[in-house]
Amino acid sequence: MSVFDNAAFEQHERVLHCSDPVSGLKAIVAIHSTFRGPAAGGCRLWHYPDADAAVTDVLRLARGMSYKNAMADLPLGGGKAVIMSGPERQASDDQLRAFGRFVDTMGGQYITAEDVGMTVAAMQTVASETAHVAGLPPEAGKAGGDPSPKTADGVFHGIKAAVAYALQRDSLEGLKVAVQGIGNVGANLCRSLHAAGAELLVADIDAERVERVCDEFGAQPVSLDDVLLADVDVIAPCALGAVLDAKTIARLRARIVAGAANNQLASDSDGQLLFDAGILYAPDYVINAGGIINVACEHAGDVTDETVNERVAQIGQRLNAIFEQSERLNLPTNQIADDMARRVSGRSAEVSAH
Ligand code: NAI
Repeated sequence: MSVFDNAAFEQHERVLHCSDPVSGLKAIVAIHSTFRGPAAGGCRLWHYPDADAAVTDVLRLARGMSYKNAMADLPLGGGKAVIMSGPERQASDDQLRAFGRFVDTMGGQYITAEDVGMTVAAMQTVASETAHVAGLPPEAGKAGGDPSPKTADGVFHGIKAAVAYALQRDSLEGLKVAVQGIGNVGANLCRSLHAAGAELLVADIDAERVERVCDEFGAQPVSLDDVLLADVDVIAPCALGAVLDAKTIARLRARIVAGAANNQLASDSDGQLLFDAGILYAPDYVINAGGIINVACEHAGDVTDETVNERVAQIGQRLNAIFEQSERLNLPTNQIADDMARRVSGRSAEVSAH
């Protein structure tokens, strides 16, 4: 299928395929927009059923990055990369270096960093071939390193803002939160929520992670099928996308959905279903921008970690503005965010097309 015929294609500026016959690397970079600056977004290492699935994923994720970077007020456009791996979800050093050379051919038009499946060590290998990489070990006190803890901080600020707005509560003491997926972001989020006095329910396909988070933060394990349907105040999807559809939304008991996972809504119309059900949804690409804020500060150079923290904390205010506008205009929060994001990412012509 041509990329132009893909349902996820939305006037992306460039889509580049890379095949390195020596290492066996197969990768795709999608640049959605360079309107605000170089396209920035992580590289996902994943085992896709076929190439069309990889193209769909990279197109959706790249558009999401345009919106995320614009809403976080960063001087960056949106792009994303995927490395198509085997079922073991590993990339060899040769493949990572080949990926670095591929990124380098774009001359800085695309800046890569970690996403699912990639580590700081992997990015260091990529960086041996190109300067257009972030998420590298930071100098003392400076921005950089694994973006996940900053993403978790942003989600924590977002949960506080949503709780203040929907439940009129300033404290998280005794708040019940169910976290789906306790990987890099989810586990860091659990730490902050626990420190703030929240009660945690957690689920993950990795039983060891569940045990660790239960031991460390007094969380209760819950089954994979039930975590989003739990009788809690907040659900925080921090694993996969497309977890909220008509079926799940009809069974939700929480008042708030606020988590890190990208593309949580199976389709845009699911935002309307949440709104109609009186459930406050914190748009994913607004609440999960902490990591890219860190990446942008690292890439800009000479920015302190303290400045990153101040900018990540602004995610709460940004969400509050969306919540207020949603209530005023009687429109779902995802629609308010999308319209704002299209305007500030130079895609306002697309507003009328949706
Ligand atoms: P991760 O790979 O470290 O953690 C994901 C966790 O979800 C793993 O522990 C995995 O076992 C678990 N999981 C997978 N399928 C599951 C299922 N069906 N039910 C329950 N748990 C399941 O990934 P990370 O970095 O923590 O990211 C989490 C989400 O947040 C992803 O959707 C990612 O795209 C998104 N995100 C991450 C950012 C970052 O800075 N790491 C930035 C913005 C978004």
